[in-house]
Amino acid sequence: PDGRPLAGRTAVVTAGPTFEPIDPVRGLTNRSSGKQGYAIAEALAALGAKVTLVSGPVALSAPVGVERVWVETARDMQAAVKAAFPADIAVMSAAVADWRVDGVASGKIKKAPGGPPSLSLIENPDILAGVSKPGKDRPTLVVGFAAETTDLEANALAKLSRKGCDWIVGNDVSDDVFGADGNAVTLFTRDGADSWPRQSKTEVARKLAARIADHFKA
Ligand code: C5P
Repeated sequence: PDGRPLAGRTAVVTAGPTFEPIDPVRGLTNRSSGKQGYAIAEALAALGAKVTLVSGPVALSAPVGVERVWVETARDMQAAVKAAFPADIAVMSAAVADWRVDGVASGKIKKAPGGPPSLSLIENPDILAGVSKPGKDRPTLVVGFAAETTDLEANALAKLSRKGCDWIVGNDVSDDVFGADGNAVTLFTRDGADSWPRQSKTEVARKLAARIADHFKA
């Protein structure tokens, strides 16, 4: 192909929040902006990879040359990731809702004199853990994220082994990360940790993509 380091490689990136419906007009979601994941998709594409970006609802335009697949729920996201396989690289940066509503109402829930309704929640599938399982479709390199407010290293390393991924990007979210342009991260691999000072999400993405390219060169 061309001379770029990830030419001929395929990547799947998840980004943004998920949206879990309560009824046709309401839902559960979170404050993920999708900025970090979109920047990673863009940086991998710039190095020549063919990128599928599986995105929850965000207000961002798709990076040039990246194929975006819109999803709402965690289960939609999981199906879209599977549909995009096989892939050499998976980067799961989405903030997937841990729970969804059990028994989504088919009509708008009415305010009733008896008081507010109660929501019953059930656990969503862990997309990253599923993708990391050994099998013929497992990407060569699976990268997860760990957003932590305390004990970044211990929590990130525990997540690395619990989920079975290859690398974890540990994200210190104790100050201003959600929706912000900057991010302070530590990359944990089986060979050690690499801390990057707070910098733009674009810069974090470029560094991560460069590390991924090095990995495939080696
Ligand atoms: O366990 P925790 O949610 O902190 O793990 C974060 C990592 O796992 C992120 O890479 C996130 O995209 C991924 N994840 C997932 N599916 C879930 C929950 C988290 O892929 N249901």
